[in-house]
Amino acid sequence: MKSTFKKLATGIVVALPLTMMSVTAAAVEKVTLKLAHNLDTKHVVHQALAQMAEDIKEASGGKMKLRIYPGGQMGGPRETMELLQNSALDMTKGSASEMEPFAPAFSVFSLPYLFEDNAHFEKVIYGPVGRELMQETADKGFISIAAYAAGTRSFYAKKPIYSPADMVGMKIRVVATPTTIKLIELLGASPAPIPFGEVYTALQQGVIDGAENNEPSYVHTRHVEVAKYYIEDQHTAVPDYLVISTETWNKLDDEQKKILSDAALKSEKYEAELWEKEVAASRQKAADVGATFIQVDKAAFRDALTPIYDDFRNDPKKAQWLEKIEALGTK
Ligand code: GCU
Repeated sequence: MKSTFKKLATGIVVALPLTMMSVTAAAVEKVTLKLAHNLDTKHVVHQALAQMAEDIKEASGGKMKLRIYPGGQMGGPRETMELLQNSALDMTKGSASEMEPFAPAFSVFSLPYLFEDNAHFEKVIYGPVGRELMQETADKGFISIAAYAAGTRSFYAKKPIYSPADMVGMKIRVVATPTTIKLIELLGASPAPIPFGEVYTALQQGVIDGAENNEPSYVHTRHVEVAKYYIEDQHTAVPDYLVISTETWNKLDDEQKKILSDAALKSEKYEAELWEKEVAASRQKAADVGATFIQVDKAAFRDALTPIYDDFRNDPKKAQWLEKIEALGTK
């Protein structure tokens, strides 16, 4: 199959994806979809995607293929989402925070202590509210077809943190979104918007004092080696999303769409099954290399961060999502 090349505004030359044969009524048409993401191949989201590739191949009798480019080789989520918009890539994965610049609704996941418990979180991301949210980027050229649990995010740093007061003046890396930047500022720290792939060096060289993420990312990225204190404040639960360009989606015929959606839904369940084990294994690995887990009074963090909710409720576009999510809780 031929592939053409396109030069993007950024100067990067990329192979154009989506090599499809013309549509006939009979069996599944041949298609190869390209998916790039920024996670390590050991990450459970990658494992779920790799399984999805197998499932798609099997269900289509080898006619549909998913080629995965892991580890940020096509750039971070911002870049890969732009590749989707430029028709230079079919699929990618972004966290809800990384979706926020494209659709403000996703900022709801950056609200601290939003979910009552894991059951509430799952009811949201796998239920009708989450499914509706997944279409919010449609006018930006892509939609989500799977949501992946990503646990909770906590701070980790080169020095111990026992309460918000200890964070005053610290430089903390965040995924750059207005909500996460505000979150760090409310704790009296300075937000440093550094790409995921550059955080290790920034920590090592002391450009930043800490960052925040779930345990698997803390360990897979080896940030644990250069920031030994993991603070169990669990401020947010930010899911990951599997994203496809609407152009690619619209070019698929009904049968291809069904094969892809079924495999995507199956990958959600598979990833969720793997997640908890991965968190436990990551904590063990972190402890083995000398990390210290610090228990903190989460109420102190919650109190310091409450003003974010006021900003949110004052913006009707965002407030509606908060209300929908709160309505699914039990309190
Ligand atoms: C999580 C997420 C990544 C994201 C990263 C980050 O680990 O799975 O996709 O890029 O957070 O903090 O940048």
